[in-house]
Amino acid sequence: MKLFKNKIFLIFFALTVLIGTGCFLMGSDKQIDFSADVKPIINKKCITCHGGVRAKSGFSLLFHDEALAKAKSGKPAIIPGDPDASELIRRISINDPDERMPYKHPPLSKQEIDIFRRWIKQGAKWGDHWAYLPVKKTAVPEVENVWIVQLYPRNQRLPRGQL
Ligand code: HEC
Repeated sequence: MKLFKNKIFLIFFALTVLIGTGCFLMGSDKQIDFSADVKPIINKKCITCHGGVRAKSGFSLLFHDEALAKAKSGKPAIIPGDPDASELIRRISINDPDERMPYKHPPLSKQEIDIFRRWIKQGAKWGDHWAYLPVKKTAVPEVENVWIVQLYPRNQRLPRGQL
């Protein structure tokens, strides 16, 4: 207990525990980004066999609706929110090389499996890349702050009457 008498040590210890727990919690809860995290794995390890025309076992990972549709087995391979019930997770985690995906290829790394697992848990969102989304008109917010109105008095949209 002599060590704990040292105040600096105690503070340091407490900080380490706090920061450590914080990092752990944040890490396990990290929001998965489809385009940045999931899509690169699909494109590298799955799309050759599960992409549109070549949909092995009736399972395609090319579009969101295809990925969530029923595969040959009769049920969807991805159940949003429930990785344990998702055939996809079973297929990438299983040891049996006859069933494991990617088929006849080295298994995914623990990290890659974890990304798939968390992505499905978080709802298996597709998150289309902004560059391919149609341009939407955004409403210009009303300005109520007099400070801004005074700074830009010539802007037609501003309520000049308030000046
Ligand atoms: C070299 C080709 C190939 C690659 C690469 C591949 N698969 Fe497959 N996949 C198959 C074949 C063939 C089947 C059907 C045979 C079977 O059921 O074992 C299949 C079946 C599946 C099924 C079962 C669908 C059902 O019927 O429910 C899932 C899920 C799946 N693959 C996911 C993946 C994922 C995820 C990847 C990438 C990590 C991947 N596969 C990579 C060939 C491949």
